[in-house]
Amino acid sequence: MLKSKVLMISVLMVSVSALSAFAGDAKKGEGLYQTNCSPCHGDKGQGRGGPMGWFTGGGGEVSGLIGNQLSNQTFLSMATDEYLRKSILEGRPDRPMIPWKGTLKNSDVNDIIAFMRTWQKEPALKMSSEPVWGDPAAGKESFNSFCYECHGKDGKGTDLGPALNNQGFLNAASDDFIKQTIIRGRTGTVMRPFIKGDPDANVDLDESQINDITAYIRTWDKNAKSRLEPWLMKTGK
Ligand code: HEC
Ligand code: HEC
Repeated sequence: MLKSKVLMISVLMVSVSALSAFAGDAKKGEGLYQTNCSPCHGDKGQGRGGPMGWFTGGGGEVSGLIGNQLSNQTFLSMATDEYLRKSILEGRPDRPMIPWKGTLKNSDVNDIIAFMRTWQKEPALKMSSEPVWGDPAAGKESFNSFCYECHGKDGKGTDLGPALNNQGFLNAASDDFIKQTIIRGRTGTVMRPFIKGDPDANVDLDESQINDITAYIRTWDKNAKSRLEPWLMKTGK
């Protein structure tokens, strides 16, 4: 009886320490973050920000930082640790977000992720790993009407919005991550929600239009070409 209790406790202790080793050390992560990341993303992860209203006369101010808002709650609730790890290690080639592999150890990256999670107040959103199917030609039209201004020609990014045709981004992001970001936006930033019915939406799109845009963005992914081609040929797009 006593013996099995002792065993249980030690099993529990081992699994807790295994978990925290994987989860990283938030205190160390804070130091690494402030040194390496805060110059672009801000000491509190506030990023380039620009509260909602910047484009609509709402009086928001732009922070002067050039990185994305990493403490954003819609972002943190959608981004898996894997997404963060890949984004940090691979970066966004040709954008200011350099790949950190080589500079930071895997354990450093885990520590930074643990620190970033201390910002998170909202529970993780359940994300699907299924592909999103849509009509990329229709998506292209919507993209050029509603997204171009900030995400640039062919999604190559601008000073206002991150690059979406970037292989670093496309390798890290699932279809659902892209789709949910378009649906929900990044609350409090100029990246507004686009789903019809959301009171903060500036442009009302329905789900099938958002699927089309997601499919269009995925056509930029060099690794997804083989997945998309048979379907594109079948639909004659
Ligand atoms: C020189 C500026 C700069 C530095 C330093 C920098 N980043 Fe970035 N980061 C960016 C930019 C800019 C983007 C958005 C990519 C784009 O504009 O195309 C980004 C994107 C990201 C993303 C993806 C965010 C999203 O919304 O999907 C993560 C995660 C990230 N950075 C984490 C970090 C971490 C952690 C560090 C420190 C180890 C760091 N960055 C250092 C500029 C920077
Ligand atoms: C007014 C400018 C603006 C418009 C218009 C806009 N976005 Fe964004 N978008 C942004 C900014 C800025 C971010 C990053 C938020 C931040 O700074 O943290 C972003 C982030 C994203 C992301 C996540 C990228 C990443 O690195 O994680 C996706 C996907 C995205 N936008 C898709 C779209 C699509 C599709 C449209 C059109 C339907 C659109 N956006 C319209 C400014 C904009």
